[in-house]
Amino acid sequence: MENMGNTIALMNQKGGVGKTTLAIHLALGGAALGYRTAIIDLDPQGHVAYSLAILDETGKPPNGVFNLLVNEYAMDEVLELVPPDMTHFVLPEDIPLPHGPYPGRADILPGFKRTQLAAHDMDLNNHDYTTFTKAIRPLVADCDFVFIDTSPTVTTWTKPALHASDYVLIPTECNRLGLDGVANVWESMDNLRESHHARLLGIIPTMVRVNVGEHKDRRDELVQTYGDLVWVNEQITESSIWEEASDKACTIFEYAPVHPASLQMWRVVNRFMQVVGVKI
Ligand SMILES: Nc1ncnc2c1ncn2[C@@H]1O[C@H](COP(=O)(O)OP(=O)(O)OP(=O)(O)O)[C@@H](O)[C@H]1O
Ligand SMILES: [Mg+2]
Repeated sequence: MENMGNTIALMNQKGGVGKTTLAIHLALGGAALGYRTAIIDLDPQGHVAYSLAILDETGKPPNGVFNLLVNEYAMDEVLELVPPDMTHFVLPEDIPLPHGPYPGRADILPGFKRTQLAAHDMDLNNHDYTTFTKAIRPLVADCDFVFIDTSPTVTTWTKPALHASDYVLIPTECNRLGLDGVANVWESMDNLRESHHARLLGIIPTMVRVNVGEHKDRRDELVQTYGDLVWVNEQITESSIWEEASDKACTIFEYAPVHPASLQMWRVVNRFMQVVGVKI
């Protein structure tokens, strides 16, 4: 595989557009294909851990990011392995997918409320925004792909997250607020361009209602503005099955392997692999 960097931030400064859903499916889908993947949750909501039911004895997500950065735990003390049975899926036959080198595994570096304190701590101690990049280096070196899930607002984490990333993926709803969210990410990337090298890899329309004119118009507007960066053929349509899968703390690949939603997400995985240079 051509090595062009392996760290991908999921960003959109609008909430509830599918950032966490996408991070989880790219990471667990990648593990199912035989890659070593990880998700770092920089959102203090702790949704990555909640979504995979990786919780501590109090039923809350572990504060892995905080413990790594502030309490200086070792990486292997803060990583949580996604149970292997959650990354074994029946793969679709009609979507070309690569095969990675290993049995595959996914780890998460979970975050929760203290993640926000970790960002403040970096500020207060006058550490610069590269601290996070340095701290995750051992994980990045061990993984084929590292996905960074981010919160829906510009926070003290935006700059460190961009600095650590090679690529940015933006899931978006096809409405006015969704498009504003995309424009805001674009603007942040531009404003902070001195401090990062991340490249926009793609804009993925999600929760699309195909028979809603507004959605089609806004998707066309996205294409006019961002051209080929918009993954039009890999758009994900709206379906309540996503929330059902999420309530069961599992992926759509496991919950509904032959549902159109699952196939749409495998198409996203396929396109992702292609754009990062994996030969399929
Ligand atoms: N295509 C879809 N259709 C309908 N619901 C979806 C779809 N994709 C994801 N969802 C659901 O929408 C909700 C929000 O998704 P998700 O948590 O991934 O968004 P987010 O961008 O990470 O949100 P936040 O900004 O709060 O972090 C979840 O309940 C998820 O199951
Ligand atoms: Mg989220």
